[in-house]
Amino acid sequence: MKIQTVACLGAGTIGASWAAYFLSKGLNVTVQDIDDRQIAAARAKVSALLKDMEEKKLLTQAEREAAAERASFTTQIAEAVKNAQFIQESALERYEIKQKVLEEVDANAWEGAIFSSSSSGLLVSRLQGYSRYPGRVIVGHPFNPPHLIPLVEIVKGNADEAVVRAAGAFYREIGKVPIVINKELPGHVANRIQAAVWREAIDLVVNGVCSVNDVDAAVCNGPGLRWALMGPNMIFNLGGGDNGMESFLGQFAPSFETWWADMATWNQFPEGSRELLVSGVKDEMGEKDLKDIARWRDEMLTGLLKLRYSS
Ligand SMILES: NC(=O)c1ccc[n+]([C@@H]2O[C@H](COP(=O)([O-])OP(=O)(O)OC[C@H]3O[C@@H](n4cnc5c(N)ncnc54)[C@H](O)[C@@H]3O)[C@@H](O)[C@H]2O)c1
Repeated sequence: MKIQTVACLGAGTIGASWAAYFLSKGLNVTVQDIDDRQIAAARAKVSALLKDMEEKKLLTQAEREAAAERASFTTQIAEAVKNAQFIQESALERYEIKQKVLEEVDANAWEGAIFSSSSSGLLVSRLQGYSRYPGRVIVGHPFNPPHLIPLVEIVKGNADEAVVRAAGAFYREIGKVPIVINKELPGHVANRIQAAVWREAIDLVVNGVCSVNDVDAAVCNGPGLRWALMGPNMIFNLGGGDNGMESFLGQFAPSFETWWADMATWNQFPEGSRELLVSGVKDEMGEKDLKDIARWRDEMLTGLLKLRYSS
């Protein structure tokens, strides 16, 4: 089945960005939110994101106009899902809201439609428990903003294997990079990795090893450049020379074990760390304001995405 019609349920930060992305990929999208005020805001957001994609040369003007015409908006879940083959749910991150949405979807959607929740932190098994069709429910967790960042974490829980495969194929076909998470756990995968790196970065600052500015410089001018191309395992596979990972482990495993033994393991922000982070990022910003930095980030990110994903 080729997916051509998508429903985006909940159209805040993430839902509107998903909608713009699906539209930019030639799909018909019905966007739903709870009332007329939210729908007016969603229309404006989707339209601004499509315009932004045109400005970044990710879409031509004609493509942007065609994309906008494929969008429809409604306050009714029943209306949004009635023809949908794929449902991307991005409503508020609360179990009771997801439950209400799932019950309405069950009552109104085609049985073969895939239901993918953007949830960052709720358990997929509990979401599946709210549905009469648990096999079609997955978490499809994007990285913000989904119209730019390719990663989608598919958490399968008790979903049917065929549904997990079909969702992965769909995301891949529209240019996303899905990964499958076999066991549900807090923070999925990518946020746990970010959290592990951040803890060590904070700890280095708290212990006076280096400034916030220098920790950030160490990440983005060193390993971060390679992380946009390959993960730590492949990086170290290359680091081992002709014998790859085996010789890397032979040579460096003892060093890593010494470092791990010395590294932070706390799970609450250490005393004074919040103040150090707030004043540290102020120093790092210098004369620039947040808007300047965000604009620069988006410009660079667009260039990186083109270089990395457009072939
Ligand atoms: N913000 C992020 O960085 C981020 C990243 C990845 C995933 N997510 C996930 O995406 C989902 C949405 O997060 P967000 O940041 O866009 O939140 P948001 O508050 O910006 O948007 C939530 C939207 O859901 C709507 N809503 C509320 N009740 C609803 C209902 N019953 N039916 C349909 N829509 C309803 C709200 O009106 C609002 O427009 C959450 O599950 C969150 O975990 C967020």
